[in-house]
Amino acid sequence: FSLKHYNTFGVSAKAKYFAEINNVEELKEALKFSRSQNLKLLFLGGGSNVLFTQDFEGLVIKLNLKGISEENISENEVLVTAKAGENWHELVMYCLNKNFGGLENLSLIPGNVGTSPMQNIGAYGTEIKDVFVECKVLNLKTLEVETFNLEQCKFGYRDSIFKQEGKGKYVILEVSFKLSKKNHRIKTEYGAIRTELENLSIKNPTIQDVSKAVINIRQSKLPDPKQIGNAGSFFKNPTIPLSQFENLKQKFENIQGYPNGDFVKVPAGWLIEQCGWKGKQIGNVASHQLQSLVIINATGEATGKEIFDFSTEIINSVKEKFGIELEREVNII
Ligand code: EPU
Repeated sequence: FSLKHYNTFGVSAKAKYFAEINNVEELKEALKFSRSQNLKLLFLGGGSNVLFTQDFEGLVIKLNLKGISEENISENEVLVTAKAGENWHELVMYCLNKNFGGLENLSLIPGNVGTSPMQNIGAYGTEIKDVFVECKVLNLKTLEVETFNLEQCKFGYRDSIFKQEGKGKYVILEVSFKLSKKNHRIKTEYGAIRTELENLSIKNPTIQDVSKAVINIRQSKLPDPKQIGNAGSFFKNPTIPLSQFENLKQKFENIQGYPNGDFVKVPAGWLIEQCGWKGKQIGNVASHQLQSLVIINATGEATGKEIFDFSTEIINSVKEKFGIELEREVNII
């Protein structure tokens, strides 16, 4: 079964078995089949954060669970619950249409709701942990449904329990968020949002205006996976000790960093650009000309292996120039 249309890189890998499931019963059936055949399992949401470097010799399960519901918490707040297979951006638009605030800074992030807690998706000053209440998961061993609250998810920067000790043990079925119905907290701390709102001549932005600004920024520098295969940021922004940052600052006076206690988060895009990768193409693969942190399938013909090798070259050159080891954000299969 070809996975080309099931991963936003658009690479041509194959799965030995493939199942699209629409409800929990179908999911359990697929899991029983995989057990009986002793198959490896892979769950796919929107396919926006995976790189297939080879064929998958097991069962790929595409989660199509659909539905959004809401429940009033108070006069000011609402609990919105979305099933794993809902498209993330469509959920954001649904909430903005109802004037529910909290997700607007996360507009236009590719992927589905079910994968959003995995890596605590974040952009423009917000992470889902800021509005997350709980998620329901299926325990793959017991086939029981369990609930994980905010604390149990152990969210960190692009990280959660589902990438650590819970890896491969659960599949996320639905996610609930606490959103505001009025007195919205408008988050414009991220400089690019303020600049964009100024460009749009908006002085007192609504949540819909913030979303519009985020969409404009993203569209101006992030390639649309429907047009050019990519998986957003390929690497995480590395966190280094303050002392290392200060040493680097002496050598590279333009280096940027966001201090956080004794550590500094450094924009990987800047490091990669300084190594000369921005817009550079090797074979079918390139670093995006407007945002070097994004690796693209430039010709549409790239293999996963080629993309992986390209990323290794980037890691090596950043390591050599800055002594910083970049970590991939995308799941490598
Ligand atoms: N920069 C460069 N050269 C580049 C790219 C960036 O010098 O080629 C510099 C920019 O000038 C800026 C800084 O790096 O000063 C940060 O750039 P940007 O605002 O574009 O954000 P980022 O740190 O590169 C992160 C997330 C994005 C998210 C944006 C906005 C990670 C790994 N990436 O990117 O998330 O949209 O912030 O909040 O944390 C994703 O995860 O797929 C993703 C797109």
